[in-house]
Amino acid sequence: MKKTLEEIKSSSLSAIEKAADLGALEALRVAYLGKKGSLTSVLKQMGSLSAEERPIIGQLANQVRAAIEEAIAAKTAELSEKLLEQKLKNEKLDVTIPGKPIKIGRRHPMSVILDEVVDIFTGMGFSVAEGPEVELSEYNFTKLNHSADHPAREWQDTFYFTEDSSVLLRTQTSPVQIHVMEIQKPPIRVISPGRVYRKDEVDATHSPMFHQVEGLVVDKGITMGDLKGTLNTLVKRLYGPEARTRFRPHHFPFTEPSCEVDVQCFECRGAGCRVCKGEGWIEILGAGMVHPKVLEGCGIDTSVYSGFAFGVGLERLTMRRFNISDMRLLFENDMRFLSQF
Ligand code: DAH
Repeated sequence: MKKTLEEIKSSSLSAIEKAADLGALEALRVAYLGKKGSLTSVLKQMGSLSAEERPIIGQLANQVRAAIEEAIAAKTAELSEKLLEQKLKNEKLDVTIPGKPIKIGRRHPMSVILDEVVDIFTGMGFSVAEGPEVELSEYNFTKLNHSADHPAREWQDTFYFTEDSSVLLRTQTSPVQIHVMEIQKPPIRVISPGRVYRKDEVDATHSPMFHQVEGLVVDKGITMGDLKGTLNTLVKRLYGPEARTRFRPHHFPFTEPSCEVDVQCFECRGAGCRVCKGEGWIEILGAGMVHPKVLEGCGIDTSVYSGFAFGVGLERLTMRRFNISDMRLLFENDMRFLSQF
C-alpha cells in the first residue's frame, strides 16, 4: 500500500506539472482526490490493515494528499497568471480614443437673475423671507385691503381649493408682507421671491405659474424717495448705469400712493419700437407706500412708522436682461435654449 501511495504521489505530481490549462488541472484533481479518485480508493482500503500499519499508512496518505493539493494550488496560480498575461497581450487598449464628454448643467437664466436680485438687496441690508404658495384668501386679499368684491378675487382668475373661496394658490407674493409684519417688529427690510399662480392661458407673455420678488420696508420716516432710490439702484445694478426708469401713478389696494415702474427700452431708447410695442418704455414692477390700513391691520403704529413695498416680475426682469421675447422658452427646458446662458 505504501508503494501504491508513493506511485500515486509521483505520477500525480508529474501529471500536475504537465497540465496545460485549468480544465486539465481540475480533471487531475478529480482523478486523484475526488470521491472515486485513486487516493480516495486507497484510503478506503485502510480497514484491511493491521493496527500497527494503520497510523503509518494514514500519515503517509495525508502527506500525499497535502503534496497533491499544494501542487495543484501552485499550478493553478501559475496557469492563471499565464492566462492573464495572454489576455492582456490580446486586448489592445487605445488610450488615445477621446472619452465620452460629461454633460455639466448650468444655472437657469431665471436663477441667474434671482441670485443677482438677492445679492443686490442683501447688499442694501434686506433679508430674504419665504411664504406659503397655498394661501388663505385672508392673506392674499383681505389683509391686503382688497374689498370683498374686488375683481382680482374672481373665480375665473384665481385657483381656489375650497367652495367658500377661503383657500387658494397665492396670486401674488404680497401676502408675505402680512406674514412678515405679523411676526416681526419694525425696522423691517425683506424681500421674498416665489411662485404665484393665476388662471392665465399660456402665450408669449403669460403663464399660469410665474415668479415674483416682493419687497417690504417699514421704519421711521420712510418716504417715496426711499422707494425710488431703492428701485433705481435695483434697475441700474441689473441693467447698467445708463438704464432709465419712469414712475407712473397707478392703483393697488394695499399701497397709497401707488405706482408702476417702467424701464426705458434698450432697443430704441424711448423712441418706440417693436420690442417695446411702440411705447418706448417697458413695465417691470408695481410699488407704493404701504397703505395705513395694512400696517395697522398688522399692529404697526402709523403715527410712528411708514413703509414702502414693491412686487417685481422675475420673468420680465430675465426676459429684458437676456432679450428673450417668449416667456414659454423659460419653462420648456429645451437644452438648446438653456445652454446659451
Ligand atoms: N402684487 C402686485 C401684483 O401682483 C404687485 C405689487 C404692487 C406688489 C405694488 C407690491 C406693491 O408690493 O406695493 O400685481
